[in-house]
Amino acid sequence: MTHLEFLKKFKKLKPSELGCFCFSFCFIVCLFFLDYRSLSKGFKARGFHGSSLWSGFSASSSSSSSSSSSSSSSRDLFGFLEMGHGENCNIFDGNWVWDDSYPLYDSKDCLLLDDGFRCSENGRIDSFYTKWRWQPRDCNLPRFDAKTMLERLRNRRLAFVGDSIGRNQWESLLCLLSSAITNTSSIYEINGRPITKHTGFLVFRFSDFNCTIEYYRAPYLVLQSRPPPGSQKQVRTTLKLDKMDWSAWKWRHADVIVFNSGHWWNLEKTTREGCYFQESGDVKMNMSIETAYKKSIETVLNFINNEIDTNKTQVIFRGFSPVHFRGGDWKSGGSCHLETLPDLSSSPVSLDTMFFTNIFGAVLSERGDNMLELLNVTYMSSKRKDGHASVYYLGPQSGGPAPIRKQDCSHWCLPGVPDSWNELLYAVFLKREYSLAGNSTTAAAATTTTTTATTPSLI
Ligand SMILES: *[C@@H]1O[C@H](CO)[C@@H](O)[C@H](O)[C@H]1NC(C)=O
Ligand SMILES: *[C@@H]1O[C@H](CO)[C@@H](O)[C@H](O)[C@H]1NC(C)=O
Ligand SMILES: *[C@@H]1O[C@H](CO)[C@@H](O)[C@H](O)[C@H]1NC(C)=O
Ligand SMILES: *[C@@H]1O[C@H](CO)[C@@H](O)[C@H](O)[C@H]1NC(C)=O
Ligand SMILES: *[C@@H]1O[C@H](CO)[C@@H](O)[C@H](O)[C@H]1NC(C)=O
Ligand SMILES: *[C@@H]1O[C@H](CO)[C@@H](O)[C@H](O)[C@H]1NC(C)=O
Repeated sequence: MTHLEFLKKFKKLKPSELGCFCFSFCFIVCLFFLDYRSLSKGFKARGFHGSSLWSGFSASSSSSSSSSSSSSSSRDLFGFLEMGHGENCNIFDGNWVWDDSYPLYDSKDCLLLDDGFRCSENGRIDSFYTKWRWQPRDCNLPRFDAKTMLERLRNRRLAFVGDSIGRNQWESLLCLLSSAITNTSSIYEINGRPITKHTGFLVFRFSDFNCTIEYYRAPYLVLQSRPPPGSQKQVRTTLKLDKMDWSAWKWRHADVIVFNSGHWWNLEKTTREGCYFQESGDVKMNMSIETAYKKSIETVLNFINNEIDTNKTQVIFRGFSPVHFRGGDWKSGGSCHLETLPDLSSSPVSLDTMFFTNIFGAVLSERGDNMLELLNVTYMSSKRKDGHASVYYLGPQSGGPAPIRKQDCSHWCLPGVPDSWNELLYAVFLKREYSLAGNSTTAAAATTTTTTATTPSLI
């Protein structure tokens, strides 16, 4: 489009469209300052789709230009899986970069997704939040390739164990993997349960690969159950800090286990609800959240040591996922629904946000165990105030969007931030696969082919 045509089009815009235009314009200017690399290559918005200004810069000429831009912006970096290098690269340190080839799937095409995460179908009109890719500072991540992952998971089980943010990540992985499967009826829940029903656990089988991707709801990881006899009457339940959740016997033989916890470890969900901490037979009326959380992590690590064959099973703990309530919490009018851009500055993360991840890190280093990997997503996700479901967790059938004072600034829209966690999961999963096979040349080859051979799905 020439400048003249552009001006003509500009004059015809209605005030609301003009607003959108100005927003987009500011957005480009912001990017110019924040990431000069994006501008020098792929970020030439050649024209806007008249009716869908909000759909982002889907107008970029071709997929090859966007993938070349993403690889050129990180031209001198080695791939995370390349020989010997993975050890030196902290994939959790980096920044978000705009990538036109994202998102990796469209929620409309994914049948295995709760309505609660389908933000765009629930009325969210901006889509920038789907277009950021995590770029580690010192290396490149392999591009997620569903076929490769499924092939590696053949005859195996991958289980997520934790709270509903773990479920958020699990559903992201279901969507990422199912994007490679054309026969949708070949993926099914083994007990025929629908994904929307909140149940203790759900197991989806990818029958072409005889592999299952499982979710176990265990928000504390340790066991919550009835108090011992003779407890004080305000004690309605207790968290047995030295016992694993009942589901542990179901998932302990899985081949990959991804734990998470944190969001339920607060006073509102424990003592104020009459749920107290317990160690062996004793209810500890005054134990702090910090101490109790620490003990729960020790119990998890002991369980891994004693009950899980870590030669077979890869054990991963996904770090705390930050919340972004501004001006209050979820009960007192905190909000995030007007956030459309990530925070690309290098602002430090608050101690509150790092609380659980730091405790976890401390317990781990105290013990010196290395049978478990920390997927330290706390810092990267803290920059994504734009990624939450906010008022878009209720679908049209449920009368959504939700009222502004009932926002969800904890869970994430899909596609979105948990997809990036799963790209990190993919990287550490493949790294172990290759190191067990003693075959790092294949690893390097896989990195390059997956970056160039995938066709990005434009929205
Ligand atoms: C399918 O996978 C399970 C483990 O998830 C394994 O025990 C079983 O042998 C596999 N079946 C076939 C036919 O390979
Ligand atoms: C799709 O998958 C189902 C279940 O595995 C199978 O019965 C059916 O034959 C498959 N259809 C095609 C066209 O492959
Ligand atoms: C627990 O704390 C309360 C006040 O906060 C105190 O009265 C009580 O003695 C403490 N109990 C124990 C067992 O430390
Ligand atoms: C795991 O592998 C190591 C080294 O191959 C071996 O020494 C150890 O006995 C194995 N552990 C189990 C539980 O099989
Ligand atoms: C997690 O990552 C952040 C940011 O890179 C870092 O400051 C923190 O120390 C890490 N925590 C652990 C336990 O590794
Ligand atoms: C590495 O992988 C390649 C290709 O899959 C294979 O030909 C080769 O034998 C493998 N090397 C080792 C040491 O496993």
